Amino acid sequence: MPHLAPENTDINLAQLKSDPYSVYKYLRANAPVCRVKATGRTMLTKAADIKAAKDNPKVFSSNDPNTPMARAFQAHTLMRKDGDEHRSERMAMAPAFSPRLIRDHWQPLYQKLAEDYVSKLPRGEVVDLFPNLAGPFAARTLASQMGMAEASDADMQRWSQTLIDGAGNFGFAEKFFDDSDLANAEMNALFETILERVKKTPDNSAFFAMVNAEIPIAQSQMYSNVKIAIGGGINEPRDALCTILFGLLDNPAHIAAVKDDPKWFSEAFEEGIRWVAPIQVSSRLVTEDIVVRDCLLQQGDTVMTIQASAGHDEEVHENGEVFDLFRAKKTHQSFGNGPHFCQGTHVARMMLVQIMLPMLFDRFPNMELADRDAVIWSGFGFRGPLNLPVHLK
Ligand code: HEM
Repeated sequence: MPHLAPENTDINLAQLKSDPYSVYKYLRANAPVCRVKATGRTMLTKAADIKAAKDNPKVFSSNDPNTPMARAFQAHTLMRKDGDEHRSERMAMAPAFSPRLIRDHWQPLYQKLAEDYVSKLPRGEVVDLFPNLAGPFAARTLASQMGMAEASDADMQRWSQTLIDGAGNFGFAEKFFDDSDLANAEMNALFETILERVKKTPDNSAFFAMVNAEIPIAQSQMYSNVKIAIGGGINEPRDALCTILFGLLDNPAHIAAVKDDPKWFSEAFEEGIRWVAPIQVSSRLVTEDIVVRDCLLQQGDTVMTIQASAGHDEEVHENGEVFDLFRAKKTHQSFGNGPHFCQGTHVARMMLVQIMLPMLFDRFPNMELADRDAVIWSGFGFRGPLNLPVHLK
């Protein structure tokens, strides 16, 4: 007989932020479907259940307008929509993400941008690559692709963090929404001028694609699409880059492998985001009663599908807590699954695998982690190192 999922009242938010992987390990072994009181949600921690939920949007809907995200973004965004409504908004931006454009336009441009940032790094010194490279590079590439190159790296990163903080403001504290309101006002003012420009001058940007979309979308949704890309396309490549560099530099065999054959950069990318998923969790709203592993999920429940946990599931990976460049199977769900599968997947792979990782190992072949124990890992919804001091040699 199905029963309600067990409730856990011990797990707390601080623990989820500092050491989520121990919590998920415990849950996978003891309560893979679990109502975690501190989050007010039912956590799914087994890889198969997470994929099944994301692949079944009819029962596990993204359409939840009652989240802080709508307030923070001042919009019901494509990430919180299903079906045709979601598809038309996603498709409107799609031309800016086409494989041809990535190859012929974004890759050469990103190569130049990377040269620019990497050439400014001082040789022979210890540099924190999080604020001095990974963050600005992710901000600049995203600004270019969206068609908002006039926004500064600092503004792009501030807007991104403000939107993320607002979307995670489940306590609905006014302070976070005051900040996101200000960021929205700044972004909206800029977007107005960009819209006028792309109406007159064609370019390859997401804004140009949306203005000329086959199925037109409202201006408000063009704005919210770009805000989703800002909130979801800067932290992730930044955190992925820092995570992958840590994983490589922490093991001499890994360093030797990538220097010997660039094919290992691609392997390092998949292993890095499997090991520490930059977006760790995604919520879905249950639209009809359904049983998962004998547990009854009721209509109206919210589940957290934990892709971070999928990447460590013992049924799929041995020693999942270890970054192992040479592991045979690096399958992961870190780009999500189903209709909301990350739209920036190919761009993210290109900018790190084809450009940034080889460039860094080429310019600084003997670089070293300056102090591995000084690296601070943090985050529940989004996760990565908060700093990455590297001796650039
Ligand atoms: C390593 C880097 C990245 C990771 C791990 C990542 C991860 C994800 C995940 C897990 C989702 C799905 C969330 C859900 O199911 O609710 C997602 C969605 C999305 N991502 Fe990424 N992302 C990355 C980079 C990027 C970049 C660079 C961009 C933009 C250039 C981007 C744009 C988007 C957009 C627009 C969506 C929403 C898609 C939709 O709802 O249809 N991402 N990403």
